[in-house]
Amino acid sequence: MKFQACRVHKTEQGVSHRLEQLTIDQLSPGEVVIRVHYSGVNYKDALAATGRGSILKQFPLNAGIDLAGVVETSSDPRFKPGDSVLVNGCGLGESHDGGLAAMARVPADWVIALPEGLSLKESMILGTAGFTAALAIYRMMQNGQTADKGSIVVTGASGGVGSIAIDILASLGFEAIAVSGREACLDYLTRLGANQVCTPEALTLGHRPLEKSRFGGVIDNVGGTQLANLIAHVNLWGNVACIGLADSHKLDTTVFPMILRGVSLLGVSSTNCPMPLRQAIWQRLGADFKPRHLSLINTEEIALSNLSETFDALLDRKKHGRILVNCQQ
Ligand SMILES: NC(=O)c1ccc[n+]([C@@H]2O[C@H](COP(=O)([O-])OP(=O)(O)OC[C@H]3O[C@@H](n4cnc5c(N)ncnc54)[C@H](OP(=O)(O)O)[C@@H]3O)[C@@H](O)[C@H]2O)c1
Repeated sequence: MKFQACRVHKTEQGVSHRLEQLTIDQLSPGEVVIRVHYSGVNYKDALAATGRGSILKQFPLNAGIDLAGVVETSSDPRFKPGDSVLVNGCGLGESHDGGLAAMARVPADWVIALPEGLSLKESMILGTAGFTAALAIYRMMQNGQTADKGSIVVTGASGGVGSIAIDILASLGFEAIAVSGREACLDYLTRLGANQVCTPEALTLGHRPLEKSRFGGVIDNVGGTQLANLIAHVNLWGNVACIGLADSHKLDTTVFPMILRGVSLLGVSSTNCPMPLRQAIWQRLGADFKPRHLSLINTEEIALSNLSETFDALLDRKKHGRILVNCQQ
């Protein structure tokens, strides 16, 4: 049986991707073969497939760091044909053939039974972006973040991680300040539950090592100077979840917020999240962490054949929310 896949190649001309017809035996090894119903377009997928970021550890490789679908065959007793499952992180779409394909084959240890409360489609509207937003909020709450400690600033707010973080925060009773470079997304972010929406400039952050306490915590998707300035404004014992690098991978800060205010800088790595915690986070995403506005956040549904233009548009900041990929089209 042949099926379509978005396969990434590296040649002397650089990294590029194209749709190809593959057979199962061409896929990376694993015990579980999955018919992929949905995947999503993540920032990392766009970096990987276009070569604008150095993401892939081997070539050629199918792109796609997440997938949801139905088990076709399994040589592991934990899964049987017909089971609805999802996979995210663990090296999928980085060192192992990924989810932007009609079929995938993965190690059974990576497979998660679809949590109660989520359909296959909803699980990939969330995708790695939703998983990461939930992991960040979980880590902050584990470390004492409560609504009465003040508002949570979410940067890169109109993107996948940002949108879902705002929705979850609002439903858990936190005040969220959405920081977005796009004024056109003001209405969208307000509808998701943001109490305030502003541009980075309108936040008027100071530049000193320690600034006036203003925010309960931060969920950051962009890195760089804005993150450094935000850390200096966090209230006593607040948490800063460090997720992304959409602006810069650099972070030039001082120890003062940590040693004088007890501020914590929390790392969030969806790829390496241990399996018991990964399962627990997915369970929460089907229950108390389930965003209330998934249909608003799902701004587009595309076919595998639409991926190229979508990767470019996402990296050029022309998309917002989450783009779902129907992998059977
Ligand atoms: N640590 C992890 O495990 C993990 C998991 C998932 C994602 N990430 C990272 O988190 C970030 C967000 O991922 P995503 O999937 O939400 O991506 P996305 O949907 O493309 O959203 C990224 C957002 O960042 C903002 N942005 C883009 N370019 C920017 C720039 N040059 N300067 C400042 N802001 C910029 C934009 O928001 P506005 O236009 O609203 O400002 C954009 O919507 C990415 O860096 C991604 O690699 C990390």
